[in-house]
Amino acid sequence: MRSIPLLLSILLFLPGILFVNQVFSQPSSLFCKSCHENNYGEWNNTKHSSAYLDTLFQSEWSKEGKPSYCLKCHVTNSMYLNEGVSCASCHNWVEGHPQTGPLEVNFSVLICAKCHEGSHHPFYEDWIQSKHASSLDTLEKIGMSKNDECLLCHSSEDFVSNLTGKNYRKEVLNPVNCQLCHDAHKLKLRIPETNELCGTCHTGVFHPTFEVFKGGFHNLARVNCSDCHMYRKPYQGIEEPAITGHSFKIDKRACMNCHGVLKGILPFDEAWKTKNEIQKKVSEKLNLTLKGLKETEEAIRSANSTILKATGIFIGDLDEPRRLLNLSIESFEKAEVLLQTVKGEGSKGFHNAAWTIENILKTEEMMDKAKLLAEEAVKLVDLTIYKNKLLLNLERKSGNVNSFFAFGALIGLLLGFTFGFIYARMKPKRK
Ligand code: HEC
Ligand code: HEC
Ligand code: HEC
Ligand code: HEC
Ligand code: HEC
Ligand code: HEC
Ligand code: HEC
Ligand code: HEC
Ligand code: HEC
Repeated sequence: MRSIPLLLSILLFLPGILFVNQVFSQPSSLFCKSCHENNYGEWNNTKHSSAYLDTLFQSEWSKEGKPSYCLKCHVTNSMYLNEGVSCASCHNWVEGHPQTGPLEVNFSVLICAKCHEGSHHPFYEDWIQSKHASSLDTLEKIGMSKNDECLLCHSSEDFVSNLTGKNYRKEVLNPVNCQLCHDAHKLKLRIPETNELCGTCHTGVFHPTFEVFKGGFHNLARVNCSDCHMYRKPYQGIEEPAITGHSFKIDKRACMNCHGVLKGILPFDEAWKTKNEIQKKVSEKLNLTLKGLKETEEAIRSANSTILKATGIFIGDLDEPRRLLNLSIESFEKAEVLLQTVKGEGSKGFHNAAWTIENILKTEEMMDKAKLLAEEAVKLVDLTIYKNKLLLNLERKSGNVNSFFAFGALIGLLLGFTFGFIYARMKPKRK
């Protein structure tokens, strides 16, 4: 009988501890507001601040019988239900702030993955499959993970620092992730136009996707990168989880949102077939050009060694073959870069078939020019050597002629003497 009050006090004590703990471990967003008015203003009126009050949430939650596990993601602090996903979800509270120092600004994907995961909204699971998730491993592999220039597009901290003018650089950086594309306070894309956002990085000589895409028919029809690369589908059931599009991979069903639905454009089957045909044709052409480029490189190498060999053996004018070889190398390098650009565009011609074919042809032109120049250089060296040989032979021949004449003269002289002597002897003597 005596144990009942004890049990009761223990039972009451536990929530009491939790209560006190929560109040002090995670202050209300209103507390932060007193000093961070701007951030509060941005966060307020987003789906984070209304994650609990949201009418859709409330109705769904009620339908389910208000299970507490929903609050794990829709509420940060049970003391301040109405604040939904509050400041402290992303900024770990440290007792005594600001005297104890600034709170952490954390760019780890795990901050968002706490809630944006699971079969209803597998943003994290989809994102981790994309190459965005390994953008730093890629640099690591080639020993460039400390290069500031590369990190501007390959890391979240550097990209956001560059965009906002604040310094979020840390010892350990994060790859292209949620905080890079989404402003975590406003819950808006950091660059509102999707094509512009993607185009900020998918640009330049090595991956000119944005520039190339801009000239293609889909851009002219105002189709976005995300229309094709971010196919989304809501949760259907345990067997069919939601698709968030954050793997950025092409899904046929994305094309079907327009082809087969919109009037006046190709039906899906034909659109998909056309895509495959473009990619096949471009791949074949690319392979051929790559082969041609190898052959051209071989021709340049052989021209170079021909000139080097010739340099040792004769004194003649090699300036012209050398000039031709340099022009050939120049043209070859241009062709190589252009081919890299064509390949780097990424879609094997689909984003803009006309541009792709045009530039493969340009590559071939430069490549052929390079090959011709290299061959021309070899021909010139050969010709010079030939001329040189001819000259040498002539000198040798003219040397023979002289000795022949000398020999002839000697013989002539001898003969002259002999005949003169005999003649003198045979002459009848006069008394
Ligand atoms: C009494 C005023 C005050 C309150 C209340 C306050 N902060 Fe701060 N906070 C500051 C000051 C001042 C700084 C700047 C400190 C510095 O840069 O060294 C700061 C810095 C920060 C930073 C780092 C900013 C940066 O640029 O690195 C974050 C994040 C932050 N506060 C979040 C919060 C959150 C979240 C709350 C509520 C839980 C909060 N603060 C409450 C005054 C306050
Ligand atoms: C693992 C964390 C997590 C849990 C647990 C969770 N949710 Fe959510 N919920 C989210 C996230 C994240 C979103 C936003 C998804 C998006 O924008 O696509 C969301 C969105 C919603 C929405 C859509 C709101 C709108 O305005 O579009 C409803 C309704 C909802 N949740 C209800 C519930 C209910 C009911 C439960 C409990 C049965 C629950 N959630 C449990 C994370 C969670
Ligand atoms: C969903 C996560 C998330 C929530 C919620 C959040 N922040 Fe932030 N906060 C971030 C991230 C990420 C940054 C990095 C910079 C950026 O996004 O511009 C940041 C930056 C900051 C900074 C420093 C940069 C600046 O703008 O001065 C402060 C201060 C800050 N947050 C305060 C707050 C306050 C106060 C709240 C609540 C009203 C809040 N944050 C809610 C994620 C969050
Ligand atoms: C504590 C859980 C939690 C964390 C942490 C969290 N979110 Fe959310 N987020 C939610 C919930 C819940 C919703 C949906 C609220 C609703 O619609 O009722 C949501 C909605 C969103 C939306 C949709 C906004 C809209 O207008 O549809 C975006 C974008 C978003 N979150 C991005 C982020 C990013 C980026 C991070 C990490 C920096 C993050 N969230 C961290 C729970 C969270
Ligand atoms: C901050 C720069 C940046 C932004 C913004 C960006 N990307 Fe990327 N993206 C990258 C990098 C870096 C890689 C390559 C990472 C690697 O291979 O290591 C990549 C890779 C990709 C890939 C190849 C993915 C795969 O799994 O094969 C696709 C597709 C892609 N991005 C689409 C997009 C789309 C669509 C957008 C806009 C919604 C976008 N990207 C925005 C930097 C960015
Ligand atoms: C303007 C933004 C940007 C900068 C700066 C940048 N990258 Fe990238 N990088 C990307 C994008 C976007 C991709 C994805 C291209 C694709 O898959 O189509 C990528 C992909 C890569 C890849 C893998 C794909 C490939 O082409 O083999 C490597 C390796 C790479 N980058 C290395 C670097 C290095 C090294 C630097 C610094 C010298 C650098 N990047 C600077 C945006 C950038
Ligand atoms: C490369 C850029 C990029 C990255 C990285 C990225 N997102 Fe997104 N996200 C987008 C774009 C673009 C959309 C909007 C697609 C559309 O509606 O066209 C979007 C939509 C969303 C939405 C739905 C909001 C809405 O308005 O419908 C949520 C929630 C979200 N992202 C969360 C995340 C989370 C969580 C992560 C990290 C795991 C993440 N995103 C990483 C670009 C990105
Ligand atoms: C009409 C649909 C469509 C649009 C719009 C589109 N793409 Fe693509 N993209 C494709 C297809 C199809 C491929 C080829 C994928 C394959 O063959 O695996 C591709 C390939 C890519 C690749 C290389 C993918 C990889 O897996 O390496 C990148 C990067 C890319 N696109 C980025 C973008 C960007 C950035 C935009 C916007 C500027 C964009 N795309 C717009 C359809 C589209
Ligand atoms: C958001 C809508 C939309 C999506 C998504 C979309 N398309 Fe299109 N597509 C169009 C429109 C509109 C045109 C017509 C452009 C024109 O004629 O100027 C078009 C044109 C085309 C054409 C050229 C047809 C011709 O006349 O030569 C092909 C091929 C094509 N799309 C394939 C695809 C494939 C493959 C996908 C998926 C990877 C896709 N499209 C996704 C809207 C879309």
